[in-house]
Amino acid sequence: MAKEKKGGFSGQFGFVIAAAGSAVGVGNIWRFPYLAARDGGGLFLIIYLILVVTFGFTLLTSDIAIGRKTQKSSIYAYAQMRPKWKFLGVITFLVPVLIMTYYAVIGGWITKYIFVYLIGDGAAAAGDGYFTAFITSKVSPVVFGLIFMLVTAFIVYNGVEKGIERCSRFMMPILFVMIIIIAIYALTLSHTGADGVTRTGLEGFAYYLKPDLSGVTPSRFFSILLDAMGQLFFSLSVSMGIMITYGSYVKKDVDLNQSVTQIEIFDTLVAFLAGMMIIPSIYVFSGLDGMNAGPSLIFISLPKVFTAMGKIGPVIAVLFFVMAAFAALTSCVSVLEAITANCMEITHKPRKKVTLVLTVIYCVMTAVVALGYSIFYFEIKLPNGATGQLLDIMDYVSNNLLMPIISLLSTILIGWIVGPKWVADEMEYGGKKFHRKKMYYVMIRFVCPIMMFILSLQSTGLLAKIFGWN
Ligand code: PHE
Repeated sequence: MAKEKKGGFSGQFGFVIAAAGSAVGVGNIWRFPYLAARDGGGLFLIIYLILVVTFGFTLLTSDIAIGRKTQKSSIYAYAQMRPKWKFLGVITFLVPVLIMTYYAVIGGWITKYIFVYLIGDGAAAAGDGYFTAFITSKVSPVVFGLIFMLVTAFIVYNGVEKGIERCSRFMMPILFVMIIIIAIYALTLSHTGADGVTRTGLEGFAYYLKPDLSGVTPSRFFSILLDAMGQLFFSLSVSMGIMITYGSYVKKDVDLNQSVTQIEIFDTLVAFLAGMMIIPSIYVFSGLDGMNAGPSLIFISLPKVFTAMGKIGPVIAVLFFVMAAFAALTSCVSVLEAITANCMEITHKPRKKVTLVLTVIYCVMTAVVALGYSIFYFEIKLPNGATGQLLDIMDYVSNNLLMPIISLLSTILIGWIVGPKWVADEMEYGGKKFHRKKMYYVMIRFVCPIMMFILSLQSTGLLAKIFGWN
């Protein structure tokens, strides 16, 4: 048995809150609500829930168990499982390496909006073209991106318990309370539009919850399923080595089964609350045509909603962006930690040195990507049909291309080469009960590999080619 590392999480709560901090990120806030609104409301919610307890559970359990059993981060963890599979560890390591180039940029955008609302400039932020003018400018996105990057680096520099755990213990409860306040407020909204129609928050909420089966053909159902699956494993931060690294810091007496369940519940609850806050707000003020995905949802549509709320708007806006900044920061920290931990294992250098070097590298990268809409602007067509700039390309390669392939390979490795018992033994360590063991075996050997294979075909655009969709 590998011995426990020094300097890990203080206990189960510390681990769960840090892992939840990683899982809860901008994906919960700007992607989940959009997908739910687009993909049939309650129908998407039901599918997502089923996937969380089957799929999400399997991938999260695997990552955390690999980490705790090997006491290593991705590269050496996979190498320890099977030396020939070290390459999988290396590909896994590449995901945070790529994500880190742009996550602080997004964090910087959020930070900028906190400032904008604090100095009372919210009305300007709701104006057309404000966001575009901001991200295409040459100083402000760089400055805010660097601030966010430096705060992230400072937390990682301070170590697992004193840096990461401490900041999650502080931020996650506040985030949770804030999101509940905004969500409840969103339900009380009511507004009469220019068309003379009065829309209420409760109607928006009903739209979110009600399964909408109209127009759901088998192929549409299938694409909703793939949407939910892609969202799920991005949201749980699995298949990018982050949960392996965090798992390697967990003490042997912690019950991993309970921990996995708690992380799943927390991440899903926050995603659900984000939908409960965003869908009714957008619905009340602009009807659901105003529902966009990604940055334009929170940086373009929501500022208009905040303005329409009147006097209380800027207050809600500050709450919202601080909440989003906390979500992004605890995720960004986990990305940098996964890189740091791997580099410490490769170089045998102490944390502080490694963090300093990585900070310099990523400050440069953050600045470059932040300038990806101005100085370094270019556009290419991505294999899945979308066009992307620098940031989108990094995102596409890490999330759409690498992550499904990593999950596919790791489920094959666990399911068929080392065998699921390897994971089950870790889950049962110290007499703990692995409740969903049978399901885990079936999922890891059969269901996951097949679904991950289909998902990789879809995200590379091959699936559409094969079936002649466009
Ligand atoms: N899980 C995070 C989210 O839902 C995303 C994330 C990406 C976290 C990369 C860490 C690293 O937004």
